[in-house]
Amino acid sequence: MLNQDEIQKIIDATDIVKLVSNYIKLEKNGKNYKGLCPFHSEDTPSFVVSPEKNLAHCFGCGGGGSPVKFLEQIENISFMEALEKLANFNGIPFEAKTNTKIDNNTKYYKIMQIAVNFYKKVFESTEEGLNAKEYLHQRGLDDDTINDFNIGLSPKPGDTLYQVLKESKILELDMSDVGLVDKGKNNYYDLFSNRIMFPIYNEDGNPIGFSARIFNNNDKNTAKYINSRETLIYKKANVIFNLQNAKGNILKNKRVILHEGQMDVIASYRSGLKEAICTMGTALSINQAKLLQKYTNHAIICYDGDKAGINASLKAINVFKSLGFIIHLVLLPNGMDPDEYVLKYGTLAYKEYFLSNLLDTNQYRFKVYTENKNLNDSNIVNQVKNNCFSLIAEIKSHTEEEDYLNRLSKLLNASIDAIKNDYYSYKTNIYLDTNQYYDNNTYEPTYPTYPEIKPVTDCSDYEARLFQYARSSRTVAMRIENEISEFIEGLSTIGQYIWIKLIDYYNLNEIYIDEDFIKMLSEEQVNYYVLILEKIKKTIAPFDDKDLEDCVEKIRTNKFDTINHELVGKIISTDDVTKQSRYIDDIFKNKRNQAELIKKRRK
Ligand code: CTP
Ligand code: MN
Repeated sequence: MLNQDEIQKIIDATDIVKLVSNYIKLEKNGKNYKGLCPFHSEDTPSFVVSPEKNLAHCFGCGGGGSPVKFLEQIENISFMEALEKLANFNGIPFEAKTNTKIDNNTKYYKIMQIAVNFYKKVFESTEEGLNAKEYLHQRGLDDDTINDFNIGLSPKPGDTLYQVLKESKILELDMSDVGLVDKGKNNYYDLFSNRIMFPIYNEDGNPIGFSARIFNNNDKNTAKYINSRETLIYKKANVIFNLQNAKGNILKNKRVILHEGQMDVIASYRSGLKEAICTMGTALSINQAKLLQKYTNHAIICYDGDKAGINASLKAINVFKSLGFIIHLVLLPNGMDPDEYVLKYGTLAYKEYFLSNLLDTNQYRFKVYTENKNLNDSNIVNQVKNNCFSLIAEIKSHTEEEDYLNRLSKLLNASIDAIKNDYYSYKTNIYLDTNQYYDNNTYEPTYPTYPEIKPVTDCSDYEARLFQYARSSRTVAMRIENEISEFIEGLSTIGQYIWIKLIDYYNLNEIYIDEDFIKMLSEEQVNYYVLILEKIKKTIAPFDDKDLEDCVEKIRTNKFDTINHELVGKIISTDDVTKQSRYIDDIFKNKRNQAELIKKRRK
């Protein structure tokens, strides 16, 4: 750490006029300089810089101070960071390293805490506070819960909070920075009024914002909730309501419960599910899910049971899925949200329902795709079928797949064969639409083509070349055998038999001689081998290691084409839709294996 003298040296070396001029335009005014204050908006300059005192100060809002203070404020950085910046600015070497992370937002948290206390006091000690309390009681919140969540009340429109903050020597610019107060024409005024105030805390338990709900106003044009605006400490895409309280319970219970709104979180909390949290009127972001992942890998999504809630759930599933969470969902009956359920049936019934109705993502999707649908409408039936098929096609386990097809058949009152037929057509269409083959060079997906039918009367070039190399020596033959033994199906059917015999031959003989080898072959094989030798003669080429590897790779990847070709044959020749559907799955699998193989070798 730096000592006081070193710090002073850095400060004294500063030309404050030069420093401030980096941010605002200054004009000479007697001994001093003057400009428009960077910390609040004004039309006539009240920001004064004194080179003599080495100070900058706003007579309007009180912002500014020493060069370090000025930098801290204008850059929103810590004291040490400001000092380092200043040292650099003055060309003084700066070696101090801070060990502890300084949270330079402390001053903002302090302001927010004053506001939390103030709103609580208004709630406790005013007539309107009694009304607010009555409202919350009606919604089922007892005084302990109200206290646990530090719920408060903002007073009637005016500047009461402003005055309180002012008394605490808070700068106007800071009040405005945290979104509590704004400046009007010639006065400051509170941004929240006549609303029940739910404080929002960050992960570490520092107050960072508010969610404010109306309670005595039925005007449809008034927003039900107003949340803090985006500030340095309140970023709604990162905020998680109640995380500071829930995190211990999340760790303990090894799961987090995600709700849509804070009243639902409170309902869960009252029911003894204290690992509940929510986002603030935003869809779950990846950042928020990552923050939750610090504590658990298991998420239970329990949004409103209405259409919007279901859509939001499907999105949240994807966010959690992308991070590898284990996911469960609870779908409340009749489009209710947890808070409504608790109010209607009580906390015990809610907890009971919640814990005995956990669905995995497949069950949840099946439920939302099939429940409350008018199955007399054929359009809707088709939609239900397609939605379910899209779900079933993603299922890896065959028994589960079978199970869902059966359930769908029962639900639609259709025979299982008819359902399977439709499912098969669905999958075939999807297969033809989206089956992605990989280009061998670019690995880019290409459109599907069925594997070529291999002519048995001719041998392929690469097959011939492989035999050519294998004939050259036992070592080469064994090296090739090593690489293709598991991919032998990549050779033509007859080529496979000949290859096996060639390896047999080398197991008995050191030196290769055509005449001797041919003695081991059947007549049909000899005929084919002649074709090979003819081809070799025509395309005679020197030994080329790279070419050998290419041939090997061709055989290996070819294996999958051969098998897939056979599978296509099987698909065409059977009427059993279940089998057909399995074959298609196998083709997909082969294609993936093939692409993997190529990728691996190219790496
Ligand atoms: N929300 C918001 N702004 C709004 C409405 C809602 O930020 N104008 C957020 C709030 O955080 C709220 C959540 O979205 O908690 C869910 O909103 P909604 O489902 O409309 O409200 P409820 O949770 O049912 O609220 P309440 O029970 O208090 O009516
Ligand atoms: Mn509600």
